Amino acid sequence: MLRFIQWLLRREGLLRLLSPAFGRFNPFLPEHRNDPHATWRTLREEVPVYRSRVFGAFLCTRYDDVLRILRDPIFTTDRSGTAGMRAVMRVAKGHPDFAGLIERNLLTLDGPEHRRLRKLVSKAFTPRRIEQLRPGLEATVDDLLERVAEEGEMEVVSSLAYPLPVIAIADLLGVPQQDHDRFRDWAGRLVQLLDPFQGRGGAKPMIEATSEIFDYFRGLLADRRANPRDDLLSAMLAAEEDGERLAEVDLLSLSSLLLVAGHETTSNLIGSSVHLLLRFPDERKRLQDDLGLLSTAVDEFLRFESPIQFTDRAVLEDCEIGGQAIRKGQLVVAGLQAANRDPAHFADPDRLDVGRTDNPHLAFSQGAHFCLGSQLAKLEAEVAIGALLRRFPDFSGPPQPSAWRRSMIVRGPESLNVKLA
Ligand code: HEM
Repeated sequence: MLRFIQWLLRREGLLRLLSPAFGRFNPFLPEHRNDPHATWRTLREEVPVYRSRVFGAFLCTRYDDVLRILRDPIFTTDRSGTAGMRAVMRVAKGHPDFAGLIERNLLTLDGPEHRRLRKLVSKAFTPRRIEQLRPGLEATVDDLLERVAEEGEMEVVSSLAYPLPVIAIADLLGVPQQDHDRFRDWAGRLVQLLDPFQGRGGAKPMIEATSEIFDYFRGLLADRRANPRDDLLSAMLAAEEDGERLAEVDLLSLSSLLLVAGHETTSNLIGSSVHLLLRFPDERKRLQDDLGLLSTAVDEFLRFESPIQFTDRAVLEDCEIGGQAIRKGQLVVAGLQAANRDPAHFADPDRLDVGRTDNPHLAFSQGAHFCLGSQLAKLEAEVAIGALLRRFPDFSGPPQPSAWRRSMIVRGPESLNVKLA
């Protein structure tokens, strides 16, 4: 079934024929891919809680509704009772590593079990550990920029935005340098977990990559048990709460989740940031004249072109959102990107303002599942954009990327060519 959907999504003509069935929300058409904000604007203004029959979910686009969904525990990430998750678990049957990754990860657990795991990981994932990565990240970015300097031009996604986050997560976990290429290969295959519809070959590539990466981490964990180091794997092994430690399946699942959750997202943030600097030359000049604005600028890039377009929740009790009755067991979609351009919360929301200070964007979600890697993601983007502006202050390129990622979940340029001189 998944293979059929993937096949169908590559056929634009057929998708157009089927489009009436999608009603007001068809994320697979190129017009939505090129400008999702137009869809969000119309929905937010006209039907802020939109029932999509194709997706079997209520799509919410207003900031207040989205925030409520993310914070109120009657909306849960435990989707085990939904038809979609039951289909995923049927696929996972007979593949214990893949089933472990789906069932035992922070993004699918909720309530006390999620709190217990998150508390244990947070003990290891400290701000101090993230800040320690800064010199290594700066050296990596310098090295990546050095490689393209002589050519005088660069494809931003493949040369900078894609490799940096993989190296950052590998270093954070303690994956040795000589294994970085394998790690990058798994990152490429596991990314499908974020948006299974967009891959090829059904679920097989994800299942195979999960077995390989779990085997790899089994070996690395055994090593760190015997020889602890100053890395996240050793810290997760040592983390203890009320005499409890993380079980092996949780350690394997968490380590792989960090790669899945932290790679594609941050790549798209870096790609979109460069794109936005090209699209808004005045704001670029403002930032270039005062690099002290880097931190607010990165938050503004996150708001303006949020890398994750939306997330969903299953509903635990009958309730009402924006006057729309929703029943227990139904699915709601929290439109993060739509909320981040809601004029009820952001002054002049379609204007990029690198100095925006009142910026409570929801790009990293909110509530119990607030992104664990938000500090790391922002650090990576600040280091990458700062270095690019310092080293190639006159870089130039088209105001629009040649293509956007073919995904309904993630948002970012597929490729972006710039001249460095
Ligand atoms: C620009 C980059 C990033 C964006 C936009 C982003 C976005 C998000 C969002 C929206 C969620 C919550 C989803 C939900 O509520 O359903 C999330 C959760 C998470 N993110 Fe990120 N993320 C980014 C980078 C990272 C990085 C670098 C890491 C780690 C290396 C990471 C690790 C996680 C983890 C572990 C969770 C699950 C937290 C939980 O459920 O308790 N993310 N992220």
